[in-house]
Amino acid sequence: MKIIQLLLLVSLSSVTYGQNPLFIPDTLSGPNINLTVQNGTHQFFPGQVTSTYGVNGNVLGPTLLLKQGDSVYITVDNQLADTTTMHWHGLHVSPENDGGPHSQIYPNTTWSPKFEVLDKAATYWYHPHLHGVTDEQVSKGLAGFILVRDAEEQALALPRTYGVDDFPLALQTKAFDLSYQILSHTNADSIMMVNATVDPMLDVPAQMVRFRVLNGSSQRAFYLGLTGNQTFYQIGSDGGLLAAPVSLTRLLLTPGERAEIVIDFSALNGQSIDLISYASEFLNGIYGSVAPGMNASMPLTDYNPNPLNGADFTVLQYNVGTPTANAITTLPNSLATVVPIDESTADKTRMFTFSPMSPGFNQLNGHFLINGNSFDHLVINDTVLLGATEIWEVKNNSTISHPFHVHDVQFFILSRDGVAPAANEAGRKDVVLVKPQETVRIIAKFEDFANENIPYMYHCHLLTHEDNGMMGQFIVIDSQVGIEEQLGANRMSVFPNPTKNMLNIISNSEIIKSLVISNLSGELMFNKIINSTEALVNVSELARGVYVLRINTATGLQTEKIIIE
Ligand code: C2O
Ligand code: CU
Ligand code: CU
Repeated sequence: MKIIQLLLLVSLSSVTYGQNPLFIPDTLSGPNINLTVQNGTHQFFPGQVTSTYGVNGNVLGPTLLLKQGDSVYITVDNQLADTTTMHWHGLHVSPENDGGPHSQIYPNTTWSPKFEVLDKAATYWYHPHLHGVTDEQVSKGLAGFILVRDAEEQALALPRTYGVDDFPLALQTKAFDLSYQILSHTNADSIMMVNATVDPMLDVPAQMVRFRVLNGSSQRAFYLGLTGNQTFYQIGSDGGLLAAPVSLTRLLLTPGERAEIVIDFSALNGQSIDLISYASEFLNGIYGSVAPGMNASMPLTDYNPNPLNGADFTVLQYNVGTPTANAITTLPNSLATVVPIDESTADKTRMFTFSPMSPGFNQLNGHFLINGNSFDHLVINDTVLLGATEIWEVKNNSTISHPFHVHDVQFFILSRDGVAPAANEAGRKDVVLVKPQETVRIIAKFEDFANENIPYMYHCHLLTHEDNGMMGQFIVIDSQVGIEEQLGANRMSVFPNPTKNMLNIISNSEIIKSLVISNLSGELMFNKIINSTEALVNVSELARGVYVLRINTATGLQTEKIIIE
């Protein structure tokens, strides 16, 4: 297998770069969007037919153009033989519209989410999220862009003509077997492609051109730069424009992340320039670094030989030509009002620790735990109160970097090992790379959507890790009713809520007769006679989740929603 793979690689690497015009996906606009997930074929290599999955086509999917404030009605028709889901990565939608692992679309059925676009102008994306097969389905071709526009962005003099001076770039590496079929759950991802085009080239006008760069790879990170270290500008991060353009010569982009960049081609009319990944400069522990950098003592299956690891390689060749009429030639000095969430407004700090499944285990091959847990559909790992602002402190106790992604929210990075983020990481984010032994603190506000039954996900966006259980789920619940009830003078106080172990129930005057705790499906979990004005209940035996507490008194009944963490 290895030798054969190597032969395949050798024959491919003898191809010179920039032979194939970059594929630009079609666009679809709202309010009604019909997506058909289907089987297809695609020639990644001339004359070789590869089986693929695509949305409304053979591979990848159309770019969805949405406007902030619009309502969209989407129909996802699954024409695959496999069950799938479709997740709107980065969009702030309710859990039932989020397309996580719980929203399964069986073969020959449709799923019809509808939502209002609440997001800021930025580059988002969609992809399947069925637990265990996300890598397979994304690798086979299921991924598409979502471009959100808003008034703030529209008012700026930025390039925004799709396919002319504004291009989506989905960066992916894939692994192929000997018959040119796509492999998943592998570290043999030796073929670089952009928008499903191998050896791509793109004609660009000699002016400012915007690229919405997505790392849609299963595992590989990119360290992007231009030939001759020419400067470029990052104008947007995952969930919005940055406050001002940030001038860069390198940009680290890890799986799931997006960056909007602008390259000034003005002085290059008639020339070619390459977008390159400088993987030779990677730190240890980043997927894509040289093999020993991934840990010499624990070799990663199929990671070596792989010509992309630790090497500088071309991602895309730009051929610069005549500028367009009304070309954008300068960038605005400031872009958007970015107001990071103030740390002092946080209601709570929640800790997340990544660790390998067991100390002796090959840590590099994809079995990692979050807070000691592997993903379980039936377990709600965390419960967040609607409206709460939370700091999530994420610590990586493993030898490999993990891009951590949170659904529902855009967050701000507060610090990396105590240090404030660089300017290009100071905007809205939904994926953050957490390096080996690093602690990253992020802050988010959980607004608008609560649902006791359908969770949101947080997970590593290395799809192999995610499929192998490096994922947890949280529900957002609206406990406002309970809180207001507690304020009433004759109400009994129930605290702390949420709780891990003990629950206090204290009455001002009335005798508490008995306490009953049941789960949300009405099953009795706990029942006790009290006959006192106060009670202390040990709830540590109950699984995490939401329960209903009934407090019976001589004169009546008080009901409280309680959360066990
Ligand atoms: Cu891009 Cu939970 O996913
Ligand atoms: Cu997501
Ligand atoms: Cu990971």
